Amino acid sequence: ARIKGVEFVKSSGRARDCPKDDRPEFAILGRSNVGKSSLINALVRKKEIALTSKKPGKTQLINHFLVNKSWYLVDLPGYGFAKASEAAKMDWSSFTKGYFLNRDTLVAVLLLIDASVPPQKIDLDCANWLGRNNIPITFVFTKCDKMKVAKGKRPDENIRDFQEIFRQNYKIHPPWIMTSSVTGTGRDELLLHMSQLRNY
Ligand code: GTP
Ligand code: MG
Repeated sequence: ARIKGVEFVKSSGRARDCPKDDRPEFAILGRSNVGKSSLINALVRKKEIALTSKKPGKTQLINHFLVNKSWYLVDLPGYGFAKASEAAKMDWSSFTKGYFLNRDTLVAVLLLIDASVPPQKIDLDCANWLGRNNIPITFVFTKCDKMKVAKGKRPDENIRDFQEIFRQNYKIHPPWIMTSSVTGTGRDELLLHMSQLRNY
């Protein structure tokens, strides 16, 4: 799973403005600030091809990155940003749902879950919505390097709790991978996983 090149292709405000070729793609989804843009940069080993920020709400459009001239990584706006206006929240759901339901070239959604916090209802709801709509997901746990959390549990404990809740309440059993964009943990595993899904 070698990355030979990556280029930013375009930002789209609506599903129907996305690139129209039939290359396979992976959507990167998750709460604001979970590390979506950072994960893209870590995967392709470019510092800031996807723009990141300490403040949530950085990514606002559907951004297509073409990898090895053959498949896309798609950076999406985050959900669950508490300070977003009601109008912005409504907007998020109609525009991203439109993307998920109409994008025929979507291979799978990488659903990013912050391993440094306890299981969040909004992530479980999102996984459930994707599952009900038959969209394949892979759980990508982020920030697994954060071993020193002031209070609360370690990433591996949060991941275990998340899996446990999921097992008890939902019928699907998505694959999952632990990652850190800081240390590079999980990068090769995730690239291999995506190449297997593409050739499926
Ligand atoms: P939005 O575009 O606002 O939805 O956020 P995002 O999900 O794209 O998050 P982004 O990649 O911008 O990262 C948010 C913050 O988390 C930044 O301060 C990153 O440096 C930090 N961060 C991202 N990944 C990791 C990680 O693996 N470990 C640690 N420790 N911090 C991370
Ligand atoms: Mg972002």
